[in-house]
Amino acid sequence: MSVERTLSIVKPDAVGRNLIGEILRRFETAGLKIVAGKLLRLTPERAQAFYAVHKERPFFAGLCAYMSSGPIFVSVLEGENAIMKNREIMGATDPAKAAPGTIRKDLGKDVEQNAVHGSDGPETAASEIAFFFRPDEIF
Ligand code: RTP
Ligand code: MG
Repeated sequence: MSVERTLSIVKPDAVGRNLIGEILRRFETAGLKIVAGKLLRLTPERAQAFYAVHKERPFFAGLCAYMSSGPIFVSVLEGENAIMKNREIMGATDPAKAAPGTIRKDLGKDVEQNAVHGSDGPETAASEIAFFFRPDEIF
């Protein structure tokens, strides 16, 4: 194991339901440190760029419309094994299939509006962090 950084997003459905604090609390309680953070709204074009890997998937258009529908809270989490640890805290993509106690089980609405995003590997973590943050915005 090593100290890693990963990108987390509190998605529009969760920001709209006043869940930023509840979600960040879960990361901090699990030992992940918030080393960068900001509230912003993606344009449809920026959402399409962020999710370019999914552009052939049937849910791409809906996903980009949803992710640009309101503000999101983006943060960088740092800690031992942070990428997998964050994925465990989030739970499975579909809240109906996520394990008890995970963010998506407790707070997600459906397979699209599932409260949070987390990077899925070291390369995507690095590129997704750089998508939102300059080096001098990360502490
Ligand atoms: P994320 O990237 O947001 O952390 O989620 P993930 O890895 O668990 O899921 P991924 O397969 O990367 O899908 C990205 C996001 O697309 C939406 N989605 N909708 N309608 C659908 O069947 C469907 N499937 C996925 C979700 O918002 C998912 O988190
Ligand atoms: Mg993903």
